Amino acid sequence: MSERPGLAPAAGAAGGGARPPQNPGSLRRPAHYNPQKPPEGDLPCKPRKDPLNWGFFCVFPERLQKNPQAQQAPGQAAKVPRLPQHSGQTLKAPQVQQNPRQTEKTPQIIRTEKLSKSFGTNAVLKEVTLGIPEKKISAVIGQSGTGKSVLFKTIMGMLKPDQGRVWFRDTELTALKPNDLIAMRRRFGYSFQNAALFDSMTVGENLAFPLREVLRIRDRGEIRRKVAEMLEWIELPGIEAKRPDELSGGMRKRIGVARALIMQPEVLFFDEPTTGLDPVLSETINNLVVRVNRELRITCVMITHDIPAAFRIADKIAFLDQGYIIAEGSPKEVALSKRDMVRDFLRISFSELKV
Ligand SMILES: Nc1ncnc2c1ncn2[C@@H]1O[C@H](COP(=O)(O)OP(=O)(O)OP(=O)(O)O)[C@@H](O)[C@H]1O
Ligand SMILES: [Mg+2]
Repeated sequence: MSERPGLAPAAGAAGGGARPPQNPGSLRRPAHYNPQKPPEGDLPCKPRKDPLNWGFFCVFPERLQKNPQAQQAPGQAAKVPRLPQHSGQTLKAPQVQQNPRQTEKTPQIIRTEKLSKSFGTNAVLKEVTLGIPEKKISAVIGQSGTGKSVLFKTIMGMLKPDQGRVWFRDTELTALKPNDLIAMRRRFGYSFQNAALFDSMTVGENLAFPLREVLRIRDRGEIRRKVAEMLEWIELPGIEAKRPDELSGGMRKRIGVARALIMQPEVLFFDEPTTGLDPVLSETINNLVVRVNRELRITCVMITHDIPAAFRIADKIAFLDQGYIIAEGSPKEVALSKRDMVRDFLRISFSELKV
């Protein structure tokens, strides 16, 4: 939207809400941005308002396992909160946990209602009702193969749902004609699970491709400038001539993000942006997600198996299991879920963390 700093409006952006032309053609860093000094509140491991002290657990994960009473000086109250204990209750039929704060007060840029998707007899999404808060970071977590990528693709219209609806602001995407849906999709960026770069093209050509083929920009100078600015913004300047197979895994992931970002989306979906990366590179990518959100004010939605990072950087977390969202809300609300599945998953995720 127009108030996003640094990003020019998408040329040819579809839909009635096209952004007014301002700051044409440039992707600038905000004046306050200094790559040597991360913006206030940025990572690493600096949690925002963090009542459960997740950042603490990221640095000292062993505290999740130990009795905090044993850490404290005699007579002092325990300061280290623990994950909720296993209640031992049996899992009932899944229900969506509505979060009144999220659904009523926070503007939601995307909403799904009772979304279902099957492949033959494999019912992957059953009734997924979910809201994505605007200009925030949301994380979708859950076990492997539970349908997280299918959910993203269904929201973006790359897969057609069997039933249910998807809205982008006030537009029901599931009611659009195919051409209108394709045009609307330009508002979304998708950073694929495996970066999905064209290996036969250079980095520069990979980034230029959507500018030429989707935005139909013909001016070579403009394309060169946009590509160079984008590479500078992701802090990989001057690597236009390199080929994807010359890049490290972390660089490839960043180029994948850059290729989605160069289209100036309003919502950027990240499918497992840190999978396969070492902890330091993972932190770089998590920082990039935070920068995309805070500096460019783009709504970010990520699928991740990096649960501590999700709890550290996401404003909202949704837990997908057996075709339903079984817990959603702030990290604290999800951490306090009474669902055995959620509790077990979080306990294992945090206890397996090695620092
Ligand atoms: N195009 C497709 N055709 C048939 N089945 C599919 C297709 N895409 C996904 N599936 C099936 O849907 C299920 C969910 O897959 P999905 O990739 O969404 O899982 P996921 O939660 O993203 O897993 P992971 O965390 O391992 O990436 C799997 O059983 C998968 O085999
Ligand atoms: Mg997946």
